[in-house]
Amino acid sequence: MKEYTIQSTVKVYDWGELAEDDRILIEKAKGATRGSYAPYSGFCVGAAARLKDGTIVIGSNQENVAFPSGLCAERTALFAANAQYSDQPVLSLAIVARNNDGFLSQPIPPCGACRQVISGVEQRYNQPIRLLLYGTDGTHVIEGIDALLPLQFADSYLKG
Ligand code: THU
Repeated sequence: MKEYTIQSTVKVYDWGELAEDDRILIEKAKGATRGSYAPYSGFCVGAAARLKDGTIVIGSNQENVAFPSGLCAERTALFAANAQYSDQPVLSLAIVARNNDGFLSQPIPPCGACRQVISGVEQRYNQPIRLLLYGTDGTHVIEGIDALLPLQFADSYLKG
């Protein structure tokens, strides 16, 4: 038997330690929560994607009475970015969440389906996506989805 260990690095930044570009992207994600449609969970999630040319595309969670038909904020933002700016790689993605009491102190990590889509977008553009997971107690910065989705499926496996 052999084994190997997979490590992930998460950097935690205070607000004042973040670069201005990152703070702007997080503010856009916070603003995006105003577009959330979350009557069933009461949980509003916002995402903002910064593209290579500087364009910022926002998304928010959109729920549906048939629950699985809704979509998370991250995928709303990424699919909108890819649909409108298909020549532009995504460099960073900020994610924030709030409930009735305001923005959460601890960041939320993207769900499994969103991780898979982030992985797909990284592969499509051969560009790691920097994740900025905002909480009022600190922002967790992760340099690419590999840290959250180790051993990810890639199209290279299709070719054998
Ligand atoms: N949600 C997101 O938008 N992103 C996540 O990463 C986790 C969950 C949404 C889905 C649903 O509308 C609500 O949050 C509660 O799960």
